Amino acid sequence: MHPASAEPTIGASMARDHAGTTAVITGASSGLGAEFARTLAARGANLVLVARREGRLTALARELETSYGVAADPVALDLARPDAAVELTASIRERGLTVDSLVNNAGFGMHGALAEADAARLDEQVRLNVAAVVSLTRAFLPEMTASGRGILVNLSSVAAFQPVPLMAVYGATKAFVLSFTEAVAFETRTSGLRVTALCPGPTRTEFFRVAGTEHRRRAYETPAQVVATAMRALDARRTPATIVSGRRNRAMAQAARIMPRSIVVPLTGRIMAD
Ligand SMILES: NC(=O)c1ccc[n+]([C@@H]2O[C@H](COP(=O)([O-])OP(=O)(O)OC[C@H]3O[C@@H](n4cnc5c(N)ncnc54)[C@H](OP(=O)(O)O)[C@@H]3O)[C@@H](O)[C@H]2O)c1
Repeated sequence: MHPASAEPTIGASMARDHAGTTAVITGASSGLGAEFARTLAARGANLVLVARREGRLTALARELETSYGVAADPVALDLARPDAAVELTASIRERGLTVDSLVNNAGFGMHGALAEADAARLDEQVRLNVAAVVSLTRAFLPEMTASGRGILVNLSSVAAFQPVPLMAVYGATKAFVLSFTEAVAFETRTSGLRVTALCPGPTRTEFFRVAGTEHRRRAYETPAQVVATAMRALDARRTPATIVSGRRNRAMAQAARIMPRSIVVPLTGRIMAD
């Protein structure tokens, strides 16, 4: 059975101890990233919080330090810039930190026909959703596998399971993340590092405002629900390389994998045009 169709928790689970570890979370100023930051801080992880909006990062860092007694460092950085991963790595080295966990969460989508899309913004989307994920994973993977105590979570999406007309680039970036992460999970399977591609469905964050669309009829999950699903699977005896959050989303992801492309692409196109 493909992991996308599996219940996300496999085997007996016990909350993994993150006390004293260091976790880098990108896109921590909002939505799922902020929720991952709260959850990992509550488990005792020290945090490096990355995004562009420094004020929000600093406020969250101070809140988590006060609530959980962990160290939280805000790093204001545009990860779509080509040299961003090198800058972040250097900044982490300067702080004398070794990374145990990485949540590659920063990302965005754009709704609309490709021919009318802002070309510069499309490039930015590929650099953030794909290139930064590869660069940061590569940069920290040796120390994360050596530690064997942490997690590598790359944010994919249910958009990864089929082409997505009107969000063509977004769907393709998330398919890349899914494929990339499943491969890395296999490569690192004996290290103790838990590696997974997290695939949420529609979730109540700033995502849809940034993308310029609103799913009026969709059933949204909350960031807390998505992150709780992810943490349960990461705590399990065997962590699946793909986690789809929400029963309905799991069923849809599985259906998209089984259905012929000649059916699934027009169907998705009609849903997206709605
Ligand atoms: N919400 C959903 O329905 C949904 C579903 C499936 C997958 N996802 C994925 O989940 C991840 C998190 O999204 P979200 O839903 O939590 O959306 P969100 O609330 O819009 O959060 C996106 C985060 O990414 C950061 N970010 C955006 N551009 C950046 C850049 N150039 N450099 C550094 N950070 C940047 C934002 O911070 P700044 O603006 O401060 O930089 C923000 O913290 C994304 O990868 C998204 O594709 C979301």
